[in-house]
Amino acid sequence: MMAKEKSIVADVPFDGPVIGVRNLKKRFGDHLVLEDISFDVHQGDVVTVIGSSGSGKSTLLRCINQLETPTSGQVLYHGQAVPSGTAALNAFRSKVGMVFQSFNLFNNMTVLENCMAGAHLVKHMPKEEAKEICMKYLTKVGMAPYVKAKPHQLSGGMKQRVAIARALAMEPEVILFDEPTSALDPEMVGEVLQVMRSLAQEGLTMIIVTHEMAFARDVSTRTIFMDKGYIVEEGPPARIFYHPTEERTKLFLTRFIAS
Ligand SMILES: Nc1ncnc2c1ncn2[C@@H]1O[C@H](COP(=O)(O)OP(=O)(O)OP(=O)(O)O)[C@@H](O)[C@H]1O
Ligand SMILES: [Mg+2]
Repeated sequence: MMAKEKSIVADVPFDGPVIGVRNLKKRFGDHLVLEDISFDVHQGDVVTVIGSSGSGKSTLLRCINQLETPTSGQVLYHGQAVPSGTAALNAFRSKVGMVFQSFNLFNNMTVLENCMAGAHLVKHMPKEEAKEICMKYLTKVGMAPYVKAKPHQLSGGMKQRVAIARALAMEPEVILFDEPTSALDPEMVGEVLQVMRSLAQEGLTMIIVTHEMAFARDVSTRTIFMDKGYIVEEGPPARIFYHPTEERTKLFLTRFIAS
């Protein structure tokens, strides 16, 4: 199913970080959800973000993808602030894709139409070209036999693989994943993680919010532990998981392993 192909990483001449998060703060009313977040993501990085419920992980991804406007601080793309306006945002989101916990597929569209929605409708790729690219990525995630199916005919794991193919069809530089396996029945988690594992091996740049600790430990190049809107600790996964230095990280991991 996941034959090794040439890298899908865009060939962009820039040696700084693809994404730079600088002193990001996000407030909802009185609640400062992100306190002061800064980190860089370079091409080929697989950054996992872990932390308790409510620590601000989804808000962080949503700020990066401009689904939320930061209260202060910046998100830089290739060193530049992301421009505002619908056209610029669409262009940015075609480079920085997102996969959600709840798949966000259109129920009235087939698998192929869902996949084409981004490439054809947003990126204005000619229909035949969009179809070809979608078939390539649907094949990659093992969903080519289901192109005519509607989402209600698919399992959760299949829906999430379609959502991943849809993100890939935009040929992005980075994909943000927000707990892509949390809504799945346990027996379907593996097939989605396997697709993500193979994307990591091919060098796709990813930021992944996950509660799948073994996956984070094995696949990421860097792990960020967040608590109450702060990055408490970050580093290579082997260090974060086996030798955390901060008490809050130790407590989180102990609780997680115990649960
Ligand atoms: N649109 C919003 N309006 C008000 N409060 C919000 C909004 N979005 C998030 N919050 C609050 O911000 C805090 C962080 O939420 P967020 O969803 O980022 O956490 P999370 O780390 O992703 O949690 P989980 O692991 O449960 O997904 C929570 O207290 C949440 O209630
Ligand atoms: Mg969340």
